[in-house]
Amino acid sequence: MEKHFKRTTITSALPYANGPVHIGHLAGVYVPADIYARYLRLKGRECIFIGGSDEHGVPVTIRARKEGITVQEVVDRYHNLIKDSFERFGISFDIYSRTTSATHHKLASDFFRKLYDDGKFIEQVSEQFYDEQTGHFLTDRNIRGECPRCHAPEAYGDQCEKCGATLSPEELINPYNAETGNPLVKKPTKHWYLPLDKDQPWLEKWILEEHKEWRSNVYGQCKSWLDGGLRPRAVTRDLDWGIPVPVEGAEGKVLYVWFDAPIGYISNTKELCDAHPEKYGSWEKWWKDEETRLVHFIGKDNIVFHCIVFPAMLKAHGDYILPDNVPSNEFLNLEGNKISTSKNYAVWLNEYLDELPGRQDELRYVLTANAPETKDNDFTWDDFQARCNNELVAVYGNFVNRALQLTQKYYEGKVPECGELNDYDKETLSEFCDVKARLEQLLEGFKFREAQKEAMNLARIGNKYIADCEPWKVIKTDPERVKTIIYLSLQITANLAIAFEPFLPFSSKRLREMISLSPNPSPEGKGSLWEMLGRTDILPAGKQLPKPELLFTKIEDEVVAAQKKKLEDTLKANEAAAYKAAPVKPIVSFEDFEKLDIRVGIVKSCEKIKKSKKLLKFIIDDGSGKDRTILSGIAQWYEPEQLVGKSVLFIANFAPRQMMGEESQGMILSAVNYNGDLSVTTVLNPVKGGSQVG
Ligand code: MF3
Ligand code: ZN
Repeated sequence: MEKHFKRTTITSALPYANGPVHIGHLAGVYVPADIYARYLRLKGRECIFIGGSDEHGVPVTIRARKEGITVQEVVDRYHNLIKDSFERFGISFDIYSRTTSATHHKLASDFFRKLYDDGKFIEQVSEQFYDEQTGHFLTDRNIRGECPRCHAPEAYGDQCEKCGATLSPEELINPYNAETGNPLVKKPTKHWYLPLDKDQPWLEKWILEEHKEWRSNVYGQCKSWLDGGLRPRAVTRDLDWGIPVPVEGAEGKVLYVWFDAPIGYISNTKELCDAHPEKYGSWEKWWKDEETRLVHFIGKDNIVFHCIVFPAMLKAHGDYILPDNVPSNEFLNLEGNKISTSKNYAVWLNEYLDELPGRQDELRYVLTANAPETKDNDFTWDDFQARCNNELVAVYGNFVNRALQLTQKYYEGKVPECGELNDYDKETLSEFCDVKARLEQLLEGFKFREAQKEAMNLARIGNKYIADCEPWKVIKTDPERVKTIIYLSLQITANLAIAFEPFLPFSSKRLREMISLSPNPSPEGKGSLWEMLGRTDILPAGKQLPKPELLFTKIEDEVVAAQKKKLEDTLKANEAAAYKAAPVKPIVSFEDFEKLDIRVGIVKSCEKIKKSKKLLKFIIDDGSGKDRTILSGIAQWYEPEQLVGKSVLFIANFAPRQMMGEESQGMILSAVNYNGDLSVTTVLNPVKGGSQVG
């Protein structure tokens, strides 16, 4: 049953203010939401696009303690950083606010209170882990203890990282506070729960029967939650950061972050409308009118909250509309690895904007071309470069540049008259006459990746047309014909500026300036810009165009190499940070130690051994007056010349061994780095060859 809507409320998941946003967030949520918002505006449809920072929850408090600053300082820092980078990247929110705002605190608090007063919650007392010395209840992640399976001493309350077991805090042996190390006790605490089990019947009907059109990943996840049977969910927490539970006797308790955050969409709408009533009207029409279509853009880890919990909250409150669609993406990986905020493994938006200035559309293009709409996808810098250079520069940019340059060259920048169309012209035009309908169908169906392909296909059509027609040759024999070729090429150029507008707003704006096409709504009296899509009379003959510039430039190899190196360095640093020294071997006596004769040797010569990639052959001055030969497997880490003259440590009474047809008379000592690299040991002050070590 197709519903007819008057207006659209678009929300995008509120990012946690515990770090900057990265390309995973962009590809999953913000770029698609922005494409959709820009598309609706371009069509002249009534809509708002809501964003904001999610500033409550445990992650921000952990970050604050790690950095030794207040939680408020953490959220201020990241809220501002995120807001600023979204703006620079062209995410066109009508508002980007935050959940620490006074409006939000009041609205979320009132929301809870209404549900409480209407008896929509159940109260339950349960035993939770408590640190008596700090007076805090702990969340699963902040509890550590011995793993009941593998007995690793530092398993988390939700998982053991050593053996991978999924755990609950109850299972840990001798649980303790991960931060203070204090032992924990069980203490009863009261919380409020949303009895989702009671919502099961209407949710099943609403999602499984009435929203079969939702993306299969979204529908599938909802179905499996519903099939598993919904259980009551706690909506409060024992924590000192968040919105206080507005009930007597609830001191030290706050609203669970997943209760308050989605209400943030409503609070931010209210802030927007209260500030600009003339433009947006009352906030309530965006949330309480059946003719408003509510669409949530989110990542896949947010599905249950947006499709089940938040709708249950809205329904319990009454008056509110429910989401009509929840286009959720899967995850984006980076160079084959998982993106991770805590491990600093990501392409951060703020850094991208600083390091590749002016290249917003390149990233938008690649993230949409690779959007993880139906499955997880991988972002690689090589693919980024290839798509920019082979598609944006070589197809779209090249075509537009040819059309505009030839207009300058042959007609002093004036759009020429169109003559009689030949069969090839007609065939070309017929290839994109339905581009508007196709784009609309894909965009309305949230198929952004396919939609952008459709726009790029238009550029391919243009590029092929001008290359096949070869106006630069025809000009010598049939200058009248060239007028038609350029006229049509310019019309395709204008179509491209419009078709790419939702996807690549920066270059579309520049292209529109190059063809003097004014933004929406068109003063030329032809309706909205979007309505002109597919037409071949957008630029009238005789119109004077300004001097063009290049639309896109190549991404150089150095840029890509530097970005790849940065990621590799992070991986290495993480590996080093994760390294733990091997356990100490069983105790030995002094007598045992003394059996080893460790000495200093001066390297007289060192050379590679033919036929061996590993071995170096050393001649050592060991103080005996005779040469000592030692073979050592460190060729991978040193050039032989580097070692000549160095004082190295070796075991002088190590049993001689035959290797590659040579006798090795001892063993040179090396340190083994965490990653297996070897480093030869040496002495700080000069000593004579043969000196004993002990
Ligand atoms: N902060 C959450 C996340 O990054 C998303 C919150 S979305 C909202 O996963 F619904 F709570 F707003
Ligand atoms: Zn374990």
